[in-house]
Amino acid sequence: MSGAGAKVGASRMKPLDVLMPAEGMGVITDLIAETLPLHRLWLEQNPDAWFAEWGPKIRAVASSGPQVPIDEAFMSRLPKLEIVASFGVGYDHVDARWAGEHGIIVTHTPGVLDDEVADVAMALTIMAVRRLPQAERFLRAGEWRNGGFPLTASLRGRTMGILGLGRIGKAIAARAKSFGLDIVYHGRHAQPDVPWRFYPSLADMAKACDILMVAAPGGPETRHIVDAALLRALGPDGVLVNISRGTLVDEQALIEALRTGTILAAGLDVYENEPHVPAELLALDNAVLLPHVGSASVKTRRAMAECVAQNLVAWSQGRPPLTPVPQTPWRGSWGKGG
Ligand code: 8YV
Repeated sequence: MSGAGAKVGASRMKPLDVLMPAEGMGVITDLIAETLPLHRLWLEQNPDAWFAEWGPKIRAVASSGPQVPIDEAFMSRLPKLEIVASFGVGYDHVDARWAGEHGIIVTHTPGVLDDEVADVAMALTIMAVRRLPQAERFLRAGEWRNGGFPLTASLRGRTMGILGLGRIGKAIAARAKSFGLDIVYHGRHAQPDVPWRFYPSLADMAKACDILMVAAPGGPETRHIVDAALLRALGPDGVLVNISRGTLVDEQALIEALRTGTILAAGLDVYENEPHVPAELLALDNAVLLPHVGSASVKTRRAMAECVAQNLVAWSQGRPPLTPVPQTPWRGSWGKGG
């Protein structure tokens, strides 16, 4: 197989039955089912019997998220699979490399959620530094009558180090700049068109900044990239914010760093084993914890669902996928060697 899309050829204009393995937000199923036949696997009494009948015919999968990994074992059950349309910009639950090697296109939903997630990244930063959730709890508990809320650390004079300066990282940088922060970044490559200083070494960046903003993709390459040593480099005024994937941070090392004052505070929207958040983390007063709500507005989630449906509809009409992932690039032709 010489590239994604190479085996599409003659089948391109046949009706496109779509398999959805796990239930997601209603808007995803609604938008797909408006146009295409949709198989809701979670409603099947006997999934094995379903696979025996439909497995050889299914050409498209819509993934609503990480509940069901779209890995080699899953995709191997669908020998005619051509496209996996995944909901979300992150697609670490999809084995995109294996898909690419087997001529299967993977799409995701980039662009439509950058501002929404960047808003939450800044909110977490401010909440963690200025202890705003704690201050609100203080007021609600009636403690204000006994004296003011203790003074907090400040955003003033801080440097934010952004780990992963992609679309979302850049949207965060734009906001952080308007809040008066200095910005530096680390990633796989320096980007010539951005004004921020690039650190080739993440450890050096952690030493140079005091807010570490995690905005890089999840997956095996970035697993536990934020570990105990990196948190020590961030230091006792340091604040860790993660709006990307929980797997980038060694959660036990973070708990220890927060508990011992190795860093000042953390603001987290994502966790290693969602929706399970360790009790030790829940017990820490210097952690601000959100339940993975970065993109979770009605407007943005609808835009993401539209992106999933539009990729599938385009494919069903013999048009190119709209937003393929880098591992499965569209090579510009159907069934001609890709
Ligand atoms: C979604 C996200 O909550 O886009 C992403 O990568 O993490 C979020 O926007 C998630 O994809 C839903 O499964």
